[in-house]
Amino acid sequence: MLIREAKLSDAAKIARVNVDTWKSTYQGILPPPQLALVTFPDRKHYAREIIKSADKDIVVAEIESGKIVGFAAFGPERAGGLPFKGELYVIYVLKSFQRKGIGSRLLAAVRKKLLEKGIHSFMVWALHDNPYQRFYQTLGGTIVYTRTLDIEGFKTLERAYGWWDITTMFQENQYRNHML
Ligand SMILES: CC(C)(COP(=O)(O)OP(=O)(O)OC[C@H]1O[C@@H](n2cnc3c(N)ncnc32)[C@H](O)[C@@H]1OP(=O)(O)O)[C@@H](O)C(=O)NCCC(=O)NCCS
Repeated sequence: MLIREAKLSDAAKIARVNVDTWKSTYQGILPPPQLALVTFPDRKHYAREIIKSADKDIVVAEIESGKIVGFAAFGPERAGGLPFKGELYVIYVLKSFQRKGIGSRLLAAVRKKLLEKGIHSFMVWALHDNPYQRFYQTLGGTIVYTRTLDIEGFKTLERAYGWWDITTMFQENQYRNHML
């Protein structure tokens, strides 16, 4: 499996992973109208915009057949005014490829690229009811903020996990299995 920077020609494959994983993750958590808000054309456009932008990036996990099975999008912190320079915007690994270390490898690649840009801290927003938050905790993230979120009339909470100093991230013993 290859972890690499995304190309514009990957946008459709990235959108497929995004839509499929969004559904498998949030089915039963979000009501159907909110679940339906994430669409293939929209996500394809999103992926293209990030890949084209100067300061944001996407890294993908590609298996031998050329299929993309996971991706992470990241760049500068978006809200402004928070003491984190970087932000992981989204990270998705297809359900059938989860718990194989792919998410960790994607996050390690994100860390490397942020450090190359001189960014030493980052955060990620996660829906309060997202069942995968253990991933962030395992990789050293701590809850730094909570905010309310209104998804087209559906009110919920969001938590931000933060990493204050990523220079030492992935170096502690408990993360060794997940190093690049
Ligand atoms: C979260 C996600 C990116 C993690 O990717 P992954 O490839 O499954 O993660 P890894 O295999 O690298 O897991 C690393 C460690 O994190 C922890 N972890 C990951 N998923 C977990 C889960 N569902 N429950 C508990 N711990 C979990 C474990 O400690 C795991 O190590 P282990 O498998 O040796 O026990 C992936 O599961 C995913 O796409 N989930 C759905 C979408 C989502 O929620 N994205 C985040 C939105 S904020």
